[in-house]
Order: sequence, then structure tokens, then C-alpha cells
Amino acid sequence: MMSLSLIWGIVIAVCCCLYLLLGMRRRQMGEPPLENGLIPYLGCALQFGANPLEFLRANQRKHGHVFTCRLMGNYVHFITNPLSYHKVLCHGKYFDWKKFHFTASAKAFGHRSIDPSDGNTTDNISKTIIKTLQGDALSSLTEAMMGNLQLVLRPQGSPQTPTPAWVTEGMYSFCYRVMFEAGYLTLFGRDLAGQDAQKALIQNSLDNFKQFDKIFPALVAGFPIHVFKTGHYAREKLTEGLRLQKLRERDHISELVRFLNDTFATLDDTERAKSLLAVLWASQANTIPATFWSLFQMIRNPEAMKAATEEVNKTLENAGQKVSFDGSPVHLNQIQLDNMPVLDSIIKESLRLSSASLNIRTAKEDFTLHLQDGSYNIRKDDIIALYPQLMHLDPEIYPDPLTFKYDRYLDENGKTKTTFYSNGLKLKYYYMPFGSGVTICPGRLFAVQEIKQFLILMLSYFELELVESCVKCPPLDQSRAGLGILPPLHDIEFRYKFKHS
Ligand code: HEM
Repeated sequence: MMSLSLIWGIVIAVCCCLYLLLGMRRRQMGEPPLENGLIPYLGCALQFGANPLEFLRANQRKHGHVFTCRLMGNYVHFITNPLSYHKVLCHGKYFDWKKFHFTASAKAFGHRSIDPSDGNTTDNISKTIIKTLQGDALSSLTEAMMGNLQLVLRPQGSPQTPTPAWVTEGMYSFCYRVMFEAGYLTLFGRDLAGQDAQKALIQNSLDNFKQFDKIFPALVAGFPIHVFKTGHYAREKLTEGLRLQKLRERDHISELVRFLNDTFATLDDTERAKSLLAVLWASQANTIPATFWSLFQMIRNPEAMKAATEEVNKTLENAGQKVSFDGSPVHLNQIQLDNMPVLDSIIKESLRLSSASLNIRTAKEDFTLHLQDGSYNIRKDDIIALYPQLMHLDPEIYPDPLTFKYDRYLDENGKTKTTFYSNGLKLKYYYMPFGSGVTICPGRLFAVQEIKQFLILMLSYFELELVESCVKCPPLDQSRAGLGILPPLHDIEFRYKFKHS
């Protein structure tokens, strides 16, 4: 009698043969080279997930700049030549960018579809987000963030001078708690019940955010939240804190959140709170690791520290601002912040080295994609993907690409450098941690301002040093590749001490 395992073996072998014969797509004339992978449905997902950068580089060597991979049941066309990026974006009328974004958001945050075409919401969401993160709204956000950062960084409630003692802490945990608290207060306002209630709320939200963020990649990959008990509980608690009744107990709520609440008026309270959780996540999940990398790279590079300190001192002096822990908080306006090319370059270079975002569009219909290297037929429902990390680490565009060079984005006059070349041609897109085209991050201007403000305050309020002066750069946590800025795999200890006693 045949054993059960043999029967199973035969069933699986037959299924695989059927898949190879019938289920695998065949490449047609004019389509990019195709990698189906050998595993039904998953296709190449395991190799891609293990190390996206190496997987894409290997396929680039094998197939050239354009190739198709089967990933989790989808056919994904990777466009890897940065000279073709703007050509992809020119085909906007063939793309549906909302489909993928709204589905991923619903999976991760548990709300119903917010795709306007499903009738629950209107196009006003994207418009509201963009409007409330730029112009005058951006100035108010930036001003509020500067105040909140100092609320968190300066000792509270004591009129005395803080003891000038060194404090040792993990740099990532430090950036996490400071940016989370200041960012939460800036977007969702301050608790009317006072300091103690506020501290408790922030501490709980911070713990819950960390738990939820841990399972975020799995949720986007399609795992149901019920598998993750702690992460599920954390998401529920974060949502609770964003209900209307809770928001009514706060003041100084940002325009972003107030206007979104109005835009979500057609949703019930739970759906509305879950959609606000999406905004909380978007505002924090990338900013926190980006802040860590900017501080870490600056501190471990003496030339960067010197140039940044000089720029900060000059800016504060020109603005007539004096730093003291018990005086008025430092204030810099939008124009003063915009005029700091050294800090801009440090932040850009830190993000270039740590960003691994995936820019995705879905084809609305069959069409031909015309690129720098040729034209390719694309089928309806296929996905077009850009993976800018390939470009960010390309030695032709960025010589010595793994080395942090604080002045990489400065020209010979010390102004922002915008000319980068590939194959002798000037690149339109050379820096894309925030995505591109219609899906470009609407919070990018605010993100850079808040990281800059953080660096300014760290440099002016504190003396800073690494516990281990020649510490190695921690590896990037590749498990979050595709989602944005990768956090460090482990923390780095640093010391800080108030300067102005
Ligand atoms: C360094 C910090 C940040 C990075 C690297 C970053 C990066 C990104 C990326 C790559 C996307 C997806 C773009 C695409 O799909 O092509 C995105 C979307 C988004 N970001 Fe950011 N982001 C940051 C900070 C922020 C901040 C501070 C906010 C808000 C205050 C924000 C709000 C959003 C929103 C709302 C979306 C979704 C837009 C939509 O789908 O309509 N981001 N971000």
C-alpha cells in the first residue's frame, strides 16, 4: 500500500507540473524578459524578499534594464534605468496608482476601502492631505514642531539649571521617543487635561506604535492581523486614541487632522479613526529612522559635524536667536530653515544610504511603454515598479556609493547640487526616497524641516558624542525593504549633555 506521504508527493508533483504547463505566463512578442519563478503563486517572492537589491541586480545583469517577475500572483515589470524614470512617469494616463495604495492601506490599518471609486470617500482626501502639508499650513506645522521638539528636549517644570551631566542612551531609542512625541503633539494637538495625562497618553501610544509597526510589513504582505495578538491589540488602542471624542479633549490640532476629519465626514467614527491612524503611521514610520541616520552619520563624521555646527551657529546668529534652556524657545522661520544647504545635504545623503522604497503603479489597460532603452508591451493589471535604491547606490551616479559624504549634494559654491549623470546624460530623477510623480510623499517638505529642526536643536542645546568613537555603521533592517527608510538592525549608544547651564 502506498504511504500517505508518497500520495502527497505525487499530488504536489502533479500540481507543479500543471502549474508549469498551464499556470505560468508565457512571454509574448514585445514584452520584457520574464522570470516566473518555480513556486506557484509566490513566483520569485522568496528570493526578492530575502534581498531585493541583490535580486534586482542579478536580474539586471541577466536581462538588462527592464524585466518582469512574478511576485505573489502579480506580474511586476521592474524598470531599472534611472534615465527611464521620467519616461515611466509620462505614461500616467495608463496607470492606476490608487488601486495598490488603497488596498495596502486597508490591509494594514483595517479600514474599509477609501478608494473614491468605491463610493465611501471622495477625491478630496488626497487634495486635503497635499493642501494641509504645504504653503501656510506647512509654516504652522513647522512652527508647532519647533515648539514641541523643545518641549520634549528641554527639562520641564524646574526653574533650576539642569546638572551638566552626561546621559547615555541608545541613539535610535532617543530619536524614536523624541520624534514620536513631538510629531504626535504637532499633528494631533496637546491634551487639555494637562502634562501628566499627556505624558501617559504619549507613552502608551509610543509603546503601541512600536508593536504595531513591527507587524506592519507582514500586514502589507497580506497576513491577517488576527495572527498577531499583541500587534492587533496595539492597533486597536492606537485607533481608540484617535476617535472624535478623544480628539475633542485636545487643542492645537493641526490643519491636516482637522481638515481630514471633515473630509472623512461620510465615514463612521471607527473608520475615521482608522484612517487617521494611517496618517499617524505615514508621518512617523519613515521620519524616525531618517532622523536616526541623519544624526548618526553627522556625529560620526567630524567634517560633517564642523560644517553643520558652523551653519547652525550662523543661522541662529543671523536670526537673532539665543539658545538657553530656560529662556524663550528657539524660533526659525521657513525661509531661514530653507537656507541651510549643509544640513540639507547631510539629510539627503543619510536618506540616500538608508532608503529602500518601492514605487508602484498598476496598468489600467494593455499599452506600450516607451523607455530610454526601447518599447515594451504591458498587459492590463500588471504592475510597473521602480526601486530607486538601485540608483541611489549606483557607483556611476554616486562614486564610492556606500560611503557617507556630507557634501555630496553641495556644489562648488556651497549651494545645493542638482546635477548628477548616468551614461553621460543629466538625470531628471537622481534622488527618490520620497517616491515620484502623483504618488510622491505629500509630507516630504515637512519631513525634511522636522529632521533639520531636530539636528539644529541637538547641535545647539547639547554636547554630543558616540560612546564608541569609531563605531561601525549598523546594518540596515532589510525586512522592511520596499516600505521606505530602513531602520538600523541594532542601536548605537551615544552621550549627550546640556551645553547652556
Ligand atoms: C523621511 C520621512 C519620510 C519619507 C522617506 C517618506 C516617504 C514616503 C513614500 C516613499 C511614500 C509613498 C510614495 C509612493 O508610493 O510613490 C509616502 C507616502 C505618504 N507619506 Fe511620506 N515619507 C516621510 C514622511 C512623511 C511625513 C512627515 C508625512 C506627514 C506628515 C507623510 C505623509 C505621507 C502620506 C499621507 C503618504 C500617502 C500618500 C498617498 O498615498 O496619497 N510622510 N511617503
